[in-house]
Amino acid sequence: MTFDAFADFRMNGHNVIITGGAQNIGAGIARTLSGAGAKVMIADLNGDMARDTAAAIQKLTGNDCRGITCDVTSLDDIDAVVEQAVKAFGGISTLVNNVGWGGRHEDPMAVTEEAFIASYKLNTISAYRMSMACLPHLLKAKNATITNSGSMSSAAPAYDILAYGTAKAALNQMMVSVAHMLAKKVRVNNVLIGTVMTAGYADAGIDPEMQERLSHPDNLTGRPGAPEDVANAMLWLCSPASAWVSGQTINVHGGGNVVRLFGK
Ligand SMILES: NC(=O)c1ccc[n+]([C@@H]2O[C@H](COP(=O)([O-])OP(=O)(O)OC[C@H]3O[C@@H](n4cnc5c(N)ncnc54)[C@H](O)[C@@H]3O)[C@@H](O)[C@H]2O)c1
Repeated sequence: MTFDAFADFRMNGHNVIITGGAQNIGAGIARTLSGAGAKVMIADLNGDMARDTAAAIQKLTGNDCRGITCDVTSLDDIDAVVEQAVKAFGGISTLVNNVGWGGRHEDPMAVTEEAFIASYKLNTISAYRMSMACLPHLLKAKNATITNSGSMSSAAPAYDILAYGTAKAALNQMMVSVAHMLAKKVRVNNVLIGTVMTAGYADAGIDPEMQERLSHPDNLTGRPGAPEDVANAMLWLCSPASAWVSGQTINVHGGGNVVRLFGK
């Protein structure tokens, strides 16, 4: 018999809920986890897109992949997703809290209380509520994990996206605390994502010149990220391959910008 170095990366027998998985980074993560053998439920505000994406993934991987409408800021919707996932798959082993976003502030000196609260509800509190709703099922599963789509903007000054950056910073802190709360039961990790250029940037009012600057062409890899870059890190953190890793916040951002002391 030959040694299979990929065995620990396989997700067969795992049942995943991923939030915001209808498009872009979340869809990439859903496809990778499904391709690794997991059953995947994509929970997204855009239920039609979630179902279409899930059907396309299932066609590609041959593994059970479903989409369901869910607003992660609604407790009723969260409970319904958990119920449907358990009904469909028989349990939940893996939660990926991928939902998140935030627009640019026209005036960073006048960010409203409502903007802060909305951002915290979407980016931070939803991940806590999803985690607690899944917990009774995670506690029964082997290799139970919660992994979060964090952002580099949680760890760098970013005053023009203050409500988003601070909500993502709170997500990091919260989820490291949750890792300690669930020690020896559920592994919890954060992926701090760098720029993966999506249509969302234009929707958030970021012009092409700014998008180019945000793409960090001068990072250590010389290119912006792709959903697959994030998905591969997520696969490691969700699979038994990372069984000795919990409570960590890991950068997936092209390595950060090149620093040269003496010019080019
Ligand atoms: N794209 C980037 O460069 C980047 C950088 C750092 C971090 N991130 C983080 O990665 C994650 C995914 O980013 P993306 O660029 O793929 O986002 P996206 O906006 O392209 O997709 C987000 C998905 O979430 C869904 N969604 C929005 N609100 C929801 C709600 N209330 N309930 C359920 N679903 C909802 C949307 O329908 C969409 O399908 C986010 O947490 C984001 O903050 C992205």
